[in-house]
Amino acid sequence: MFLLLLILITCPLGSHSYFQGVELLSDVNYTQGFSVIPACFINPDACAKGPQFRLYNPFSTAPNISALWQMAQWDSHSNISTNGTFVNDGKSEGMQWSSEDKRFILFQDDRLQISVNGYHEYQGKYRTPDEPWVALLLQQSIGKSTGSVSLNQVTELQWNLDIQLLYMDQHIQPGYNPNIHAGQFLLYMAIQNLVPGDPEYGKYFWLGICLYDDRFPMSPLYINGDKGTGSLIYQPAFSNFANTSVHSENVVHVSGNMRPFVRLGLEAAVERGFLNSTDLSKYYVGGMNIGWEVTGLNNGTIEIGNFSLKQYTAQNPKSYEFNQNGDTEGWKTTFNLNENTNKPLNGKWILSLIDKDSYLLSPEIMIDTLVVKKIIIRINYNKFQLLWSRSTEELFDENDSILVEMENDGRWKEYILDLSNNSNWYGIVRRLRIEPVREENNIKFGIDYIRFSSY
Ligand SMILES: *[C@@H]1O[C@H](CO)[C@@H](O)[C@H](O)[C@H]1NC(C)=O
Ligand SMILES: *[C@@H]1O[C@H](CO)[C@@H](O)[C@H](O)[C@H]1NC(C)=O
Ligand SMILES: *[C@@H]1O[C@H](CO)[C@@H](O)[C@H](O)[C@H]1NC(C)=O
Ligand SMILES: *[C@@H]1O[C@H](CO)[C@@H](O)[C@H](O)[C@H]1NC(C)=O
Ligand SMILES: *[C@@H]1O[C@H](CO)[C@@H](O)[C@H](O)[C@H]1NC(C)=O
Ligand SMILES: *[C@@H]1O[C@H](CO)[C@@H](O)[C@H](O)[C@H]1NC(C)=O
Ligand SMILES: *[C@@H]1O[C@H](CO)[C@@H](O)[C@H](O)[C@H]1NC(C)=O
Ligand SMILES: *[C@@H]1O[C@H](CO)[C@@H](O)[C@H](O)[C@H]1NC(C)=O
Ligand SMILES: *[C@@H]1O[C@H](CO)[C@@H](O)[C@H](O)[C@H]1NC(C)=O
Ligand SMILES: *[C@@H]1O[C@H](CO)[C@@H](O)[C@H](O)[C@H]1NC(C)=O
Repeated sequence: MFLLLLILITCPLGSHSYFQGVELLSDVNYTQGFSVIPACFINPDACAKGPQFRLYNPFSTAPNISALWQMAQWDSHSNISTNGTFVNDGKSEGMQWSSEDKRFILFQDDRLQISVNGYHEYQGKYRTPDEPWVALLLQQSIGKSTGSVSLNQVTELQWNLDIQLLYMDQHIQPGYNPNIHAGQFLLYMAIQNLVPGDPEYGKYFWLGICLYDDRFPMSPLYINGDKGTGSLIYQPAFSNFANTSVHSENVVHVSGNMRPFVRLGLEAAVERGFLNSTDLSKYYVGGMNIGWEVTGLNNGTIEIGNFSLKQYTAQNPKSYEFNQNGDTEGWKTTFNLNENTNKPLNGKWILSLIDKDSYLLSPEIMIDTLVVKKIIIRINYNKFQLLWSRSTEELFDENDSILVEMENDGRWKEYILDLSNNSNWYGIVRRLRIEPVREENNIKFGIDYIRFSSY
């Protein structure tokens, strides 16, 4: 057995900088408010290309530039008013803009409350399948200038948001047909060919999550052509992204890595003739939208917060924070405990060591060792071995490992493992394994986070 004791730094508070991916959403704090596309129900051609109006964020002190977020009110029967009123929901102050068909509130703590009153929009009468339906969406373009890289380089494409249903009146009445009448709250991104000169330049498919649908507690997989844009819609089942239905009216944390579905969606788009190339190096995240699409008489309000879309690569990898109760972020353990106590809780993952061979195994990862030189681990344990592998198979070589041993005082510490001078730290690392070395009185192994850094 060949073990290298390495030089490391510990820091009880934990403050070393680390890779955090690239935020693909611009202006996540809505400092510039929203540029509103007018509602063009009455005269679509005349007004769609007309001037947009602006909802300013009254809580922002940032200098005014142009708005990066757009609000679209497709086929609505009224324009949202630009004359806002201050409200307070007990959590924070907000600015509310509305019309008789919709309401939108921007809170000072960056929550957004979005309401559509389908009953009023359709004047209490169900639309026929051929008639357009109303939407209230927030959207922005993404693309290369916003930091999107081609999807063959992307290891994770991670949505994060908190969502809560505050109000829903379905207004079900005679004539209701669940195949054409619904209230849905959707989150979509366009996976788009952005290679100039390519025959399919600009073409895209929609990759989405149905966050809420009044007909289904958890929306199933949905694949279909979109009449409106002539593009494929690929919408994986909601159970991939959350374990609780938004119907519960609780705050539901949605955490979705879209990267595996990029490939599945692209294959479906090619199979069905919407796109010709499955070459991921041509595709980027081209844009996104979130909000209501209401085809029924539904009157609904949904609130969202902590909204983010992170792009990770081998050179800017995701850290593992274990901050969502029950979510191991793909890490597996052989600690072999019962389900309830074997999961992260309140920001930490505590495990009981039952035998000396217990270990934690990472999901498949991509770490470029030319860029990533340090692994930062915060644990309450003093002796462990870290192993890495350039294979996704669960095969590890003792040569590709380090042994860490520190004073045994049971305190939580951040260990900064410096691999910059380790001759076995090369290539693309695809797996990590952490093996606590069991000693007497040392039966609880707790982990707070695993992060990566360059220097
Ligand atoms: C931005 O412009 C709006 C509208 O003119 C104004 O009400 C607001 O005070 C401006 N914000 C700042 C920070 O200058
Ligand atoms: C919304 O406002 C635009 C002008 O900005 C106007 O042309 C359009 O007719 C209005 N829409 C409705 C539904 O009133
Ligand atoms: C804006 O709303 C306030 C409060 O509802 C009202 O007093 C005011 O007259 C409105 N201004 C305009 C221009 O509509
Ligand atoms: C849902 O629960 C399963 C099983 O407990 C877990 O593996 C998965 O990570 C959870 N998903 C989310 C999004 O929390
Ligand atoms: C795919 O290629 C065929 C044959 O070259 C072409 O006719 C078709 O328009 C292409 N489809 C798309 C979506 O570009
Ligand atoms: C629609 O919902 C809002 C609350 O979001 C409520 O104030 C309003 O009265 C409702 N309207 C109808 C027609 O149900
Ligand atoms: C955003 O996240 C913070 C920290 O986890 C949490 O306290 C807050 O309630 C979240 N916001 C919403 C709208 O859920
Ligand atoms: C901006 O939003 C992010 C994510 O919601 C939050 O963590 C951060 O504190 C906000 N920044 C400011 C300046 O409000
Ligand atoms: C591990 O390192 C030792 C000593 O440098 C070497 O002899 C051995 O061949 C290495 N094992 C593998 C599997 O590379
Ligand atoms: C790595 O090696 C270089 C050159 O030998 C040396 O200057 C540096 O201090 C070493 N770093 C660590 C963390 O050992």
